[in-house]
Amino acid sequence: MNKVVLITGASKGIGLALAKKMLNEDFFVIGTSRNGVIENLQHKNFHPLELDLSNPVSIKNAHQKISKTFKHIDILINNAGIGPDLGTFHPERDAFDQTFNVNVTGTVFFTEPMIELINENGMILNVSSKMGSLDVCELTDSVAYRMSKSALNMYTKILTNRLKNKIKVASIHPGWVKTTIIESNIKNARLSPEQSAENIFKFIDSDFNNGVFWDSENEKVLLW
Ligand SMILES: NC(=O)c1ccc[n+]([C@@H]2O[C@H](COP(=O)([O-])OP(=O)(O)OC[C@H]3O[C@@H](n4cnc5c(N)ncnc54)[C@H](OP(=O)(O)O)[C@@H]3O)[C@@H](O)[C@H]2O)c1
Repeated sequence: MNKVVLITGASKGIGLALAKKMLNEDFFVIGTSRNGVIENLQHKNFHPLELDLSNPVSIKNAHQKISKTFKHIDILINNAGIGPDLGTFHPERDAFDQTFNVNVTGTVFFTEPMIELINENGMILNVSSKMGSLDVCELTDSVAYRMSKSALNMYTKILTNRLKNKIKVASIHPGWVKTTIIESNIKNARLSPEQSAENIFKFIDSDFNNGVFWDSENEKVLLW
């Protein structure tokens, strides 16, 4: 039977490329987007699902649908994320609230009820960013985005401690990827979403150390 992976934010960018990669690797993929539509992806092993992480009702509905239809999953990839203050230099209230609602609060409160649906020896992968590393931060931009990824990393640590020996947990940096999370990435970033998805899959498929923060572009452990 195919292993089941749930990827949040699978309508475009890294999430879409990863959904395609995992379908090619014989996974059954549940992919989410806010309107429940994933264009250009039709596959017998793909199931699109509506999920808006900023909306508690949407989170509850998505969880109910997953538990009714699938009962169990093997891997949860918390990929959905936004960066409305990327490239800006002072925190602004709306962008700060939006960022934390999706990248932190929504991700945590979507993950919590999912845990009981994840099979033993399953996995939770949080798509974080090097920009959230406290140790390597020397810049002053993107306050909300950076802080949201630091907070997500702390959630990775907490889940690792809580789920020891049952579910493996990690944070992953997908590299600098040509997506529209910020328009300038399309021109400036180094990796295509497909290259990033290959690197992320290599990590998923490896016997990685539980609770690690992994730079999938450079294949090395990142400092928190
Ligand atoms: N691109 C990079 O260089 C880079 C670097 C480091 C880390 N990352 C991280 O990688 C992840 C994917 O980023 P990306 O670059 O692929 O971004 P992207 O192309 O903008 O895709 C973001 C995905 O998140 C979904 N999304 C947006 N708002 C949402 C919400 N409220 N609830 C649920 N889903 C929502 C979007 O779907 P809909 O809009 O269709 O709902 C979309 O599928 C993010 O966590 C990002 O922080 C990216």
